Amino acid sequence: MKSGRWAGAGAMASRRAWLFAVAALLASLLAGACGKRAAVATGGAAAWRFAVVCDTQGNPRDGTVVNEAVARTIAEDIVRERVDFVLMGGDLVNGWFRNGGVSFPEQYAIWKRAMAPLLQGGVRIFPVRGNHDHGPERTVLPPLPAQHEPAPGDLERLEKAYREAVTGGLPGNGPAGAKGLTYGFVHKNALVVALDEYAGGEHRVPQAWLDAQLARADGRHVFAYGHEPAFETIHKDNLAAFPEARDRFWDSLGAAGARVYFCGHDHIYNRAAVADRQGREIRQVIAGTGGGALKSWPGSYPDPRVRGEGHSERHHGYLLVTVDGPRATVEWRAIVDPGGPGGEVSWQVPDSFSYDLRAPQAAAQAVAE
Ligand SMILES: [Fe+2]
Repeated sequence: MKSGRWAGAGAMASRRAWLFAVAALLASLLAGACGKRAAVATGGAAAWRFAVVCDTQGNPRDGTVVNEAVARTIAEDIVRERVDFVLMGGDLVNGWFRNGGVSFPEQYAIWKRAMAPLLQGGVRIFPVRGNHDHGPERTVLPPLPAQHEPAPGDLERLEKAYREAVTGGLPGNGPAGAKGLTYGFVHKNALVVALDEYAGGEHRVPQAWLDAQLARADGRHVFAYGHEPAFETIHKDNLAAFPEARDRFWDSLGAAGARVYFCGHDHIYNRAAVADRQGREIRQVIAGTGGGALKSWPGSYPDPRVRGEGHSERHHGYLLVTVDGPRATVEWRAIVDPGGPGGEVSWQVPDSFSYDLRAPQAAAQAVAE
């Protein structure tokens, strides 16, 4: 009996141990699965940030080629916000237009001087060209007055200066003819696509190349950016000059799960929701507030599909994007008081919005905050 009891107890203990082992295995598998889900949801890391700055150019009427005061103030703030990188959406300098005779290499040297807080802090900047970094518009605007036409060879010298100053070390995976100008890369749980909207014809994106890039989105956040708005506010020269191509571009962003497209060109802050042709909403965020002279906007979009959600033309500033797993928050940080000698710069966030990749790309899912 004793031995039997012990035998029985031993058998029970053995069964208990087996059950514990199975339970432990199940718990381990469950924890692993949960951990995997968490890794997918968070990108396997803590929340991270990046900034978007556009239009740091100077004021052509006062002879400056870069608004150094504003650009430097923005750069200093971005350093404090501890971002992973900065996307620079074009018109870094006045470039070919009304540059007061400042050479192209000197213009980009001035821009780098303004960006010194970032460059010296080891923050990478991923630029694309704006029309000022490229050349005169030839498609939708009236002919340029002869006195503003660039001299022969100027535009080649401008591209050379741009490439030598700011494209070193960028991903070389762009389309033929635009390597170093258009490119894409994966960073943590995001696919970033930098679009030169001139090399393949002005107001156009390299759609076939973009489609191949977007094919690797694989559920990640997609952050595409270029200089020109896809949907018009102030300037007539934008991607809407070729509406069918623009709509294909918007459709491709929607199909890849993108929720936002960043751009500049218009010297305003403007956020609008526009559905693609399948009804997937994407936000166009214009943040041409990096230094160029601020402009006013009559307040209506030519395209009836565009629904405005936020607007300001009163402040310079930049976008700060926080990515926390499937959620992203886009804030427009505005310089509401530039301070001046001895004074503190005052910042505010007049507009922000968030989205969550787990929510459908429906009309009501972006929440203004
Ligand atoms: Fe521009």
